[in-house]
Amino acid sequence: MCGIIGCVGHGDGTLDVILDGLETLEYRGYDSAGVALAGDGLDVRKKEGRLEVLRDQIEADGERPSGEVGIGHTRWSTHGPPTDANAHPHTDEAGRVAVVHNGIIENYQTLRDELEADGVDFSSDTDTEVVPHLLGAFLDAGMEVEEAFRRTLDRIEGSFAIAAVVAGEDRILGARNDSPLVLGVGEEGRYYLASDVPAFLEQTRDVVYLDDGETAIIDADGWRVTDRDGEPVEKEVSTVTWSAEQTGKSGYDHYMLKEIHEQPTALRQGLSGRLDELSGRVTVEELDDVGTPETVHFVACGTSYHAALYGVELFREAGVPAQAFLASEYATGPAPVPEDGLVVGVTQSGETADTLSALREAEGRGAETLALTNVVGSTAARECDHALYIRSGPEIGVAATKTFSSQLTALNLLVESLANGSPGTRELIAALRDLPGDIQQVLDETDAEAVVDEYADRESFFFIGRGPSFPVALEGALKFKEITYEHAEGFAAGELKHGPLALVTRETPVFAVVTGDDERARKTIGNVKEVEARDAPVVAVTDGQSDVERYADHVLEIPETHPRTAPMLANVQLQLVAYHMADRLGRAIDKPRNLAKSVTVE
Ligand code: G6P
Repeated sequence: MCGIIGCVGHGDGTLDVILDGLETLEYRGYDSAGVALAGDGLDVRKKEGRLEVLRDQIEADGERPSGEVGIGHTRWSTHGPPTDANAHPHTDEAGRVAVVHNGIIENYQTLRDELEADGVDFSSDTDTEVVPHLLGAFLDAGMEVEEAFRRTLDRIEGSFAIAAVVAGEDRILGARNDSPLVLGVGEEGRYYLASDVPAFLEQTRDVVYLDDGETAIIDADGWRVTDRDGEPVEKEVSTVTWSAEQTGKSGYDHYMLKEIHEQPTALRQGLSGRLDELSGRVTVEELDDVGTPETVHFVACGTSYHAALYGVELFREAGVPAQAFLASEYATGPAPVPEDGLVVGVTQSGETADTLSALREAEGRGAETLALTNVVGSTAARECDHALYIRSGPEIGVAATKTFSSQLTALNLLVESLANGSPGTRELIAALRDLPGDIQQVLDETDAEAVVDEYADRESFFFIGRGPSFPVALEGALKFKEITYEHAEGFAAGELKHGPLALVTRETPVFAVVTGDDERARKTIGNVKEVEARDAPVVAVTDGQSDVERYADHVLEIPETHPRTAPMLANVQLQLVAYHMADRLGRAIDKPRNLAKSVTVE
């Protein structure tokens, strides 16, 4: 989830509008930045690091890039580490076309092979670079610019928001598919394209929201939106009314809520190019040289530890013995390092000190290590033998939300690719494909606020689940306590009667995650009855397959899906409960007291 901005109509001010626009997108996190301005020629400047580094470089170069139209980009690495060469914009060999891109081009390897066979030299490791080369080739073939752009789009598969400029042309071409792109309508022939409204909010509040499959063209004469065949599409101009304070949050009150709502997009990115429905296989490039392990040990902290517990469940189902360890315990105790085993560090930041120590300990004892992380080039990714990227995009809220969902998704990919071809993979692939849409349904239809209204005055909350829903119960409680500051505990449903039941009263709501209608569900319902008998209010998070609703005071519904994806949907409901409770209590949701996003001390 990188940032895009493009503008026309600012004459000599083009570069400043682009750099200022990129600055407003800085909050999203990025590891390199670049601009391309088009006039008679094309001037591209790009640098690894902060925007300041790019600004300094432009000053040091002496000559500022100039042009009537321009595009800019902040990159968050997905293919290839953060370097000057991998930064956007990318160009064709002739330096006539420059392109910025958010998302993942799934068929880039095929396209790259094809272009290389035609003699094209690539200068980066990115998936994006195929786009300018294709566009350049269509232009070389004599095609008009818009036609060439549409033909390029016809060739690429995956998720993208793209903006392109061509030397000698005073227009910007944009397109979107599964990745946001908006058009800004300014005054006096000034128009904008951006991945997020804040990028041009200084200039205009009039916005056209593009839909998937649409192409936008802006030039000094105006703006147009067409479909993929070039047919005009009528679009409405809406006016944004957010306050300045809300802009970075795209209109949401908190980053956490924004990130909860970004989950469908984050998961699409994480799955992009990794599910092959035709062959019924999962194909993860990064795992090509990882064999099926004899045993798996996970090391992780906090939310990532809960993801690890879910991973244990999946590996065991696939017949591979697995265990999860709290990284802080693993690193300091007599850590059991498996022979011929794989040690997986689950860490969204890739920088958590305890997890790094545990991984180093394992590495030192000869174990093969893998980092499951969100940050390309992070310490964990660099130090481990392998890295699997969850591709969630930057997460600003301290409470991990979308990265947890992305971790669970990636763990499914990990297990399926290491034990590929297992029976049931096809059904799982179908469920994973539907998962972003199912999460959207939960977000659209949730009753979390009603539940919060009912129990806002309570001081203790319990969360229970079994199997893959047990880590979700733990995570539901962790999310709840860290941002509401109220007491919350998660338990394996069967453990309730071995102690915690003593705390259960009519004052303590119990959230029970019950999905499916198997033995686990029936046993959890047994535990629900135990708390109901103590008059505790019960909130069932369920897909409606069992009869748990009969014993519940409230129901948070999730769509019916695969047993592995159901807990992920339940988790979204619990994220929303935690968020709305914290909001009602007026807590500092994005920066809870005493907590940090990345803990780099042991
Ligand atoms: C901190 C954060 C948690 C996170 C944990 C592990 O405690 O507040 O949200 O789960 O670190 O972080 P990691 O980056 O390793 O996933």
